[in-house]
Amino acid sequence: MKFSRSLLLGLALMTTGIFVGCSSAPKDTNVTLVDQESNAYKTLYQQNCAGCHGQNLEGRSGPNLQHIGKKLDVAGVTKQITNGGPGMPAFGDKLDQGQISELAAWIAKQK
Ligand code: HEC
Repeated sequence: MKFSRSLLLGLALMTTGIFVGCSSAPKDTNVTLVDQESNAYKTLYQQNCAGCHGQNLEGRSGPNLQHIGKKLDVAGVTKQITNGGPGMPAFGDKLDQGQISELAAWIAKQK
C-alpha cells in the first residue's frame, strides 16, 4: 500500500515534469490549440513556421494563426504553404506533399 502510493506520486511528479519541461513558451499558453500532440505541430510547424508565426501560433512577423481555420480551409492553407505570399516564403520545394498536407490539415483545424 505504502509502496504503490509513493509509486503513484512519483509517476504524477514525473508526468508534471515532462509537461513543464516541454512548454518552454511562457506567452499565450492559455490558448488551447487543437491536437497539440501531433507531429505536424511539434515537428513540422515548429521547424518551419514558428519563427514567423510564433510557437503557439500567436504571431510574430507573420500573422496570428490561432483561428485561421475559420478563414481558410485545408485547400487554402495548402495553397499558402505551397506558394507562400507577401513576406512568406514558399514551401512547395522545401516540404514534400505528405508533409504539406499533414501540416495544412492540422493548421486548418485551429478555429
Ligand atoms: C519568413 C516568415 C514566415 C514563415 C517562415 C512562414 N510564414 Fe506564414 N505568413 C508570413 C506572412 C508575413 C504572412 C502574411 C502575408 C501573406 O498572407 O502571405 C503569412 C501568412 C500565412 C497564412 C495566411 C494567414 C491569413 O490570415 O490568411 C498561413 C495559413 C500561413 N502563413 C501559414 C504558414 C505555415 C504553415 C508556415 C510553415 C510551413 C509558415 N506560414 C511560414 C510569414 C511567414
